[in-house]
Amino acid sequence: MEMEEAAKVEPQYFELNTGAKMPSVGLGTWKAPPTVVRDAVITAVKAGYRHIDCAKVYDNEHEIGSALKELFSDGVVSRNDMWITSKLWSGDHAPEDVSKALTKTLADLQLDYIDLYLIHWPFRTKSGTRGWDPELMAPLCLAETWAAMEGLYASGQARAIGVSNFSTKKLEDLLTYAKIPPAVNQVECHPGWQQPALHNLCNSTGVHLSAYSPLGSSGTWVKGEILKDPILNEVAEKIGKSPAQVALRWGIQSGHSVLPKSVNESRIKENLDLFNWSISPEHFSKLSSIPQKRLLRGEFAIHESCSPYKSLEELWDGEI
Ligand code: A2P
Repeated sequence: MEMEEAAKVEPQYFELNTGAKMPSVGLGTWKAPPTVVRDAVITAVKAGYRHIDCAKVYDNEHEIGSALKELFSDGVVSRNDMWITSKLWSGDHAPEDVSKALTKTLADLQLDYIDLYLIHWPFRTKSGTRGWDPELMAPLCLAETWAAMEGLYASGQARAIGVSNFSTKKLEDLLTYAKIPPAVNQVECHPGWQQPALHNLCNSTGVHLSAYSPLGSSGTWVKGEILKDPILNEVAEKIGKSPAQVALRWGIQSGHSVLPKSVNESRIKENLDLFNWSISPEHFSKLSSIPQKRLLRGEFAIHESCSPYKSLEELWDGEI
C-alpha cells in the first residue's frame, strides 16, 4: 500500500475477510508473568484497549480470564466490545485435540467464544505435550489441523481463524487447500523486520497481517535493539514521539495491527497513543532504510532428524 493511501485508512480497526473489525492495537501477553498480567489487562482496558492477544502456551490465560470477568461484571466493557485472540499450541494439532484445546482456552479465559483462533506455529509436537524440544516433534499435517480449525469456525466457537509464524510460502500453500481462508497471519514485524514479501501476499489475498513483537521485544531474552535504532530515534525526535510510538504507528500506517506487550501502566498508555498524529511520507520512507533482522528465529523447531525443518532456511522458506 502506498504511504498516502495508508495514512487515509481509519487506523482504529482493520476489517478482516470475515467482515469483523479487529482493533488495530492489541495488548500482547507473551512474557507477561501470571502474577502481573491480571493488573496489566485491567489497566489496558481501562485505558481504552479493546484487543488482548493470548495463547495457551503463555501460561497466563487463567489470570487473563479473571481480569476479563471482573471488567465485564464491573461494567467497564462488554464482551461484544472486546476482541480476544488465542492460539492452538503445537501439541494440540491432532484433529481430535483441536476442539479440546479451544475448550480449555475458553474455560481459562471464562469466555464462550473466541474472536480469533490461530495455529501458533507450523510444526507439530506429540499429542498433549507442552514443550518444543526437537525430541517432542511429531509429523506435521497442516491440512488436517486446518480442517479442524474450520470446524471451530463453523461451530461459532471461533469467530475467525488464522495462523501465526507462517512464511509467504506456507501461507500460499495453505490458501491452496483451505476451504475457509485464514483471516490473519500473526508474525514478527517491526521497523527492523518489515516483511515486504509477506505484506504483498497478505494484501493481494485479503489475509490480515498482525504484528507480534512490534517493539522488537526489547528487555526480554530476545534482546531486540530496535528501540535504540538511530534512524527510528531520529524520526521520533523530529516528530516529538517516543521510538516505541513511531514503531507502532509505522505498523498501523503499513496496514497491519500491532500487539505491543507491556505490564507497565505508563507504557501501556503510551503504546495506545497513536491516533491523532501520523508519520509524514518523508519520515515514513526514512524508516525503510533501517537494517533488517529477524529476531525470533525459532531455532527450537530445527532438528536434523526429528523435525520437518532441518534448517532455519526451511522453517522460514528463505525469509531469514
Ligand atoms: P514492559 O512490559 O516492562 O513495559 P514487544 O511487544 O515487542 O515484545 O516488546 C515488549 C518489551 O518492550 C517488554 O520488555 C516491555 O517491557 C517493553 N516495552 C513495552 N512498551 C514499551 C515502550 N513504550 N517503551 C519501551 N519499552 C517498552
